[in-house]
Amino acid sequence: MYRAPRGTSDILPEEQNYWSYVKQKAADICRLYGYERIDIPAFEDAGLFTRSVGEGTDIVEKEMYTFEDRGGNRLALIPEGTASICRAYTEHGMHNLSQPVKLYYISAFFRYDRPQAGRYRQYHQFGFEAIGSDDPALDAEVIDMVWQFYGSLGLKKLSLGLNSIGCPACRPGYLSALKEHYAGYAGELCPDCKVRLEKNPMRLLDCKQPSCQTAADSAPRSADYLCADCEEHFARLKRYLSLLGIPFKVNHRMVRGLDYYTRTVFEVEPEEESGQSSLGGGGRYDGLIEGLGGRPTPGVGFAAGIERIIFNLKNQNIAVPPLERPQVFIAYIGDEAREEAIKLAARLRQNGIGVVQAVGSRSLKAQLRQANTLGVRHTVIIGDEEIKTGTVILRDMTTAQQETVPFDGLERLLK
Ligand code: HAM
Repeated sequence: MYRAPRGTSDILPEEQNYWSYVKQKAADICRLYGYERIDIPAFEDAGLFTRSVGEGTDIVEKEMYTFEDRGGNRLALIPEGTASICRAYTEHGMHNLSQPVKLYYISAFFRYDRPQAGRYRQYHQFGFEAIGSDDPALDAEVIDMVWQFYGSLGLKKLSLGLNSIGCPACRPGYLSALKEHYAGYAGELCPDCKVRLEKNPMRLLDCKQPSCQTAADSAPRSADYLCADCEEHFARLKRYLSLLGIPFKVNHRMVRGLDYYTRTVFEVEPEEESGQSSLGGGGRYDGLIEGLGGRPTPGVGFAAGIERIIFNLKNQNIAVPPLERPQVFIAYIGDEAREEAIKLAARLRQNGIGVVQAVGSRSLKAQLRQANTLGVRHTVIIGDEEIKTGTVILRDMTTAQQETVPFDGLERLLK
């Protein structure tokens, strides 16, 4: 028998109330902050990610599903959403719209990662991007939206880490300082970090290998190397977050795993570590659109992993409303009654009443058992006697009380 590929999973009916809850809260928060929905293709030109997420990142180097299609195009299953949104912004001339343009997406993404709790090869993000302004008030609004979103889900005990990693003007100075610092630890670094030191020194700061911790703990901090503009931006962002009462913590070692970030980076984690920690992350990417060949256009955004949100909802015992189920089950005894049941089911559905109709020729007892399992409020029972008298039996499934009511006008009674 076939099984779902490693790192992927079926979302079964009993899980769907969690998914629908999270998606509804996402849509609600987007409405409150003025974001409009966009849907992107499941695959893109692979170069889009090499040029934005970055060649030296784990995502591009190790985790991307790339393939050549029959036309010889080099494509990739989307590992993240920001690059696609920026591509769409330029492709559809959105710079002509009133700025910032605010877009959100809920989509499946793909990363060839080692599957473990909270880390999958196909996973889902709710993400949003505000493109067209470099005002730190917009960063603060995005972070506020993130905080309100998690709050609206009922999640508690989350922490928000914040950092600024500068811009092309001040980053080179910081990178030199990092390289110089790490050169003193070259013998102790893990094999990956030895390569990163050459290619992408900031990545060393979030390495989880114990051998790299001492060097990371004493590493220079990006916030100490910011140019005047970046420093002002970071100071204003922190001031606005304080005005909003958002409890952020500056984390000097947070650099995020994607190369397109400039200035602001942030991440949300549960306070207690459990499995994969990052619930969501984001930041500013002022050079991204220009780097993809568009006009210079700043942007800031965020994405949350939906599987990880659901894991935490369950972990925190947060009750999620059940999905709406059919209200009525129609049971019948005999072939003639089956025909009445078919007609009645169609009529009730036309009147907006959700119906499950029995099929086959099971005993009434077995049909009632099915109705019970479905959790319907009422069962309609049709037999020979009811056909003769133009009635049906209406059974209340909670009290098990039954009454005989006219066949005609049943929809009004049920409503
Ligand atoms: P990211 O941190 O790579 O950022 O992913 C965002 C979130 O997606 C993570 O915090 C995590 O919750 C979830 N996630 C990532 N990989 C997996 C996986 N393999 N399995 C399950 N969940 C996962 C981005 O993707 C950026 N595009 C976010 C952003 C938007 N920055 C600016 N705008």
